[in-house]
Amino acid sequence: MNSTRLLYTTLIFCFAAAVIFSIYFYFQSQRYAAKVEEAMPTESSLPTYHFALIGEEMDHDYWRLVGEGAKDTEAQYDVLVEYGGPRRSNPEEQLKLLDIAIKSKVDGIMVQALNDDFLPMIEKAVNQGIPVITIDTDAPESPRSAYIGTDNYAAGQLAGRTLVEDTEGEATVGIITGSFDNAHHRLRVEGFQDVVEGEEGIEIVAIEESNITRVVAEEKAYTMLNEKPDITALYGTSALDGIGMAAAAESLEMVEDLYMINFDTLEENLQLVEQEKIDALIDQKPYEMGYRSVELMLDILKGQPVQDVYHTEASIVHKENIDQYKAQASEVP
Ligand code: BGC
Repeated sequence: MNSTRLLYTTLIFCFAAAVIFSIYFYFQSQRYAAKVEEAMPTESSLPTYHFALIGEEMDHDYWRLVGEGAKDTEAQYDVLVEYGGPRRSNPEEQLKLLDIAIKSKVDGIMVQALNDDFLPMIEKAVNQGIPVITIDTDAPESPRSAYIGTDNYAAGQLAGRTLVEDTEGEATVGIITGSFDNAHHRLRVEGFQDVVEGEEGIEIVAIEESNITRVVAEEKAYTMLNEKPDITALYGTSALDGIGMAAAAESLEMVEDLYMINFDTLEENLQLVEQEKIDALIDQKPYEMGYRSVELMLDILKGQPVQDVYHTEASIVHKENIDQYKAQASEVP
């Protein structure tokens, strides 16, 4: 074979190979494009409704349950619930998330309305045609469509009545509250105060804020018990207050002398009740709040009438009824 023939043969071979490879890659790319298209959600495979749920703290068992309740509705209804919130309590960040949800034009917003700063943002959502439901903490003077959560004033009264009964009407009380600014904590304190004020043998001698953290709750309870050694009972309005109060009482070797009542049946709080370090807990229904908030939002969007307020149950857990409580709680997630 002379060199010219060899060159032509090589060129023809290269050309044929290029054609075969082009054809092969063309069909491969077509198959890939078809696969991508198949995987892409089509208009009809997207949920009909996209909701935003904005809570106080992602890194918290109470809010984990609220989120779980809301997300579980996705299996039953044609909805997508985007659940978010600051990692640790941070009202400014919560407001930012609310603004983002409005700008994203979600179909409905469920939000914990911590304080008056939330009013303009709720108004903004509603003015843009996005219905808002308040959850856990209400803002009745806002244009929200409904509230779902504990009746926080009544729950404070329940705490007060329980303390009166358990202490037989004789107690010098210190209060640790999550925050002086947050509506629900204020209501829990007010309800409590209104009940115990009528009791001759009961006096509230101190009230401090825990900033919704167990560390600050412990510090405040420790200082309070040191400064006012006549305190015989502590009331905590936020989920982590009891853990802090119990730790302070333990450091001061006062566990046996103190009566303690606080909010929320977090696992750690239940253990403290079993160990007789906390006397009573106020149970709320965070899972139900999350689940029903979505159902409520669907009713609103379908134009069905809804009540202004849906109060979920609050009840008391003592060591005596803790097994019964746990059995019931395991039936509903
Ligand atoms: C309140 C929530 C709060 C949680 C954690 C609960 O008692 O209802 O609003 O985020 O405690 O502090």
